[in-house]
Amino acid sequence: MNTDSNVTALLGIDFPIIQGPFGGGLSTVRLASIVSNLGGLGSFGAHNLEAEAIENLGRELRSQTERSFAINLWVSDWDAEMETVDESAFSSSVQNHKIVYNRVGAESPRFPKKVKSGYERQVEAVLRVKPKVFSFVFGIPAQEILRECRRHGIVTVGAATTIAEALALEAAGVDVVLASGAEAAGHRPWFLEGSEADLVGTFPLIPLIKDRVKIPVIAAGGIVDSRGVKAAMSLGADAVQVGTAFLATEESGASSVHKQRLLENTDGRTRLSKAFTGRWARFLPNAFLDRVDEEPEKILPFPAQSWLAGPIKQAALAKEDGDYQSLYASQAAPLVKYRTAKQVFQELKAGLRLDT
Ligand SMILES: Cc1cc2nc3c(=O)[nH]c(=O)nc-3n(C[C@H](O)[C@H](O)[C@H](O)COP(=O)(O)O)c2cc1C
Repeated sequence: MNTDSNVTALLGIDFPIIQGPFGGGLSTVRLASIVSNLGGLGSFGAHNLEAEAIENLGRELRSQTERSFAINLWVSDWDAEMETVDESAFSSSVQNHKIVYNRVGAESPRFPKKVKSGYERQVEAVLRVKPKVFSFVFGIPAQEILRECRRHGIVTVGAATTIAEALALEAAGVDVVLASGAEAAGHRPWFLEGSEADLVGTFPLIPLIKDRVKIPVIAAGGIVDSRGVKAAMSLGADAVQVGTAFLATEESGASSVHKQRLLENTDGRTRLSKAFTGRWARFLPNAFLDRVDEEPEKILPFPAQSWLAGPIKQAALAKEDGDYQSLYASQAAPLVKYRTAKQVFQELKAGLRLDT
């Protein structure tokens, strides 16, 4: 198996193994830098950070590793349907979940006064930090941003859930495409009209995209161990990106309840739901998902639904109550077994060997 594909040289790494970024505060400098120092690509999900915090993050990462790392943003962080959400619509949704705020001991949130997309300022901060890799989901950065990335030697990696999205990323001049299968934990990063319901799995998605683009393809979704790495590389992936297996390790920012449920998950049930943010994401089912999914028409668009669920999540984290936390998980979660990033990395690396 070719472990020395162009993508390793392009990303400045030794092994084609990427620790996927986690948004929402679950990425850590420690996890990303350990993976980078092991010769893979550590990533940090920064979509919830202000511009200044992104610059600090760049400094922190550089203090922990001299190797390549990726900073990740959400290109679209504001649904068009947000126009329909005003103070009264928001308050009535909050009212609808009053019983949950009481149950977890959270304050009911107010409609934020000043809110708008933070992406423009964030991406400028990323350009100032100049990470080796800028990865992104939910769209394609403007041409001037891609041009600036090229000028600074920043490699761009964009997520696709369908052939059409991969072709659009390549046509825009993005350097590498992430083929993100429906098995993946976290948000479904679709961005072209019509892709939302496709739910193409990683197995078909890798060769479908590989056959149509010239740029390198990273596979993500359901890859947890050496078998997954081997399968993805056999199907034509140039590298793999792994989320859930790293999320369960002691170095990630996930709560101990979340890690425990990932490590103890045996029935394999996960579910796509908009309950926590207003955008589709894959979770271990819990009481909050069950409650909100009963009335899907009442779910607010992104980010309003996350303003609504945020205080519930925070209170549940403080109380170590897994029933009201956002328990992001891959379909392959029951295969997760290692508790340190190094163990996960060694396991994945074994899948790159020809003789195993
Ligand atoms: C908690 C969590 C948060 C995530 N946040 C992001 C994000 O902000 N940006 C992104 O590009 N991918 C995000 N992902 C996706 C992962 O980086 C990765 O592609 C995915 O988890 C791979 O699938 P797997 O979990 O089956 O390994 C997230 C995943 C998880 C589990």
